[in-house]
Amino acid sequence: MFIFSNLATSLDGKIATRDRSLFPLGTPADRRQMHVLRGRADAILMGASTLRTHRRFCHAQGAKKQPINVILSRDLAGISPEWDFFREPAVSRLLLLTEPLSPARARRFSRSSELVVLPRGAARRSPAPAIIRLLEERGVKRLLVEGGGTVLWHFVKDNLLDEYHVTLTPRLLGGAEAPTLVDGAGFSPSEVVNLRLKSLKRLGDELFLVYAKTRKRGR
Ligand SMILES: NC(=O)c1ccc[n+]([C@@H]2O[C@H](COP(=O)([O-])OP(=O)(O)OC[C@H]3O[C@@H](n4cnc5c(N)ncnc54)[C@H](OP(=O)(O)O)[C@@H]3O)[C@@H](O)[C@H]2O)c1
Repeated sequence: MFIFSNLATSLDGKIATRDRSLFPLGTPADRRQMHVLRGRADAILMGASTLRTHRRFCHAQGAKKQPINVILSRDLAGISPEWDFFREPAVSRLLLLTEPLSPARARRFSRSSELVVLPRGAARRSPAPAIIRLLEERGVKRLLVEGGGTVLWHFVKDNLLDEYHVTLTPRLLGGAEAPTLVDGAGFSPSEVVNLRLKSLKRLGDELFLVYAKTRKRGR
C-alpha cells in the first residue's frame, strides 16, 4: 500500500492553535491541492480529535469515486451520529475502534458506517499495522493520512509513510500544547526519521513541499 499524508503547518510546525479549534491555516490554493490529493486516495484516515473539530466528511471535489473516510478512535466519545460527517450518501465510512460500543450506540453508528473493533493490543502498541491490514483487505491501495499529529505519529514511528505533502503557511501559532505535524512520544536521536525533498513549489506566501521516505534513521 502507498501511504501519504497532507497537512498544512504554520512556520513553527503547528497544525492548529493551542485550543485545537477549527482554524484553516491554508489559502484556497492549499484547499485545491487538498482535493487533488484526496482524488488520488482510496481511503482517508483521520483521528477522532480531528473529526470532533471538523465534524464533516472528507470528499475529493470532481473525483469520480470518493475515498472511504476512516476514523480512528477508542470509543467515539463526544461524537454524534447526527453530524454532517455521517450524512453524505456518496461517502462510505469506516470507524476503527479499540473498545466495543454499547449495542444501542453501535446500532446508531452502524446506520451510516461500518464499525470495526481493532484486535486487542492495537491501542497499546501502534494501531498502524492493523489498520493497514484491514484496509488492504478492503482493496485500498493508496491511503491518505490527513492527521492530526497523534495519528500521524503511529505511522511515522515505524517509517510507514511513503510521501509527506506539507503546505508551509506564513503563520505563527506558538504554544507548547498546540498540535504539531507529528506528535506522540517522539524519537530518541538514533530513531529520527530522515526524508528526501522531492518537490517544492511556491504560490504567494505558501510553500508546497513534498518529502519522500528514506530508510535512514538517526544522524
Ligand atoms: N493543519 C492541518 O492540515 C490539520 C489536519 C488535520 C488535523 N488538524 C488539527 O489537528 C488537531 C487534532 O490533532 P490531534 O493530534 O489532537 O488528534 P488526532 O490525531 O486527530 O486524533 C487523536 C485521536 O485519535 C484516536 N486515537 C489515536 N491513537 C489511538 C489509538 N492507538 N487507539 C485508539 N484511538 C486512537 C483517539 O480518539 P478518541 O479520543 O476518540 O479515543 C485520539 O484522541 C485538530 O485541531 C485539527 O483541526 C490540522
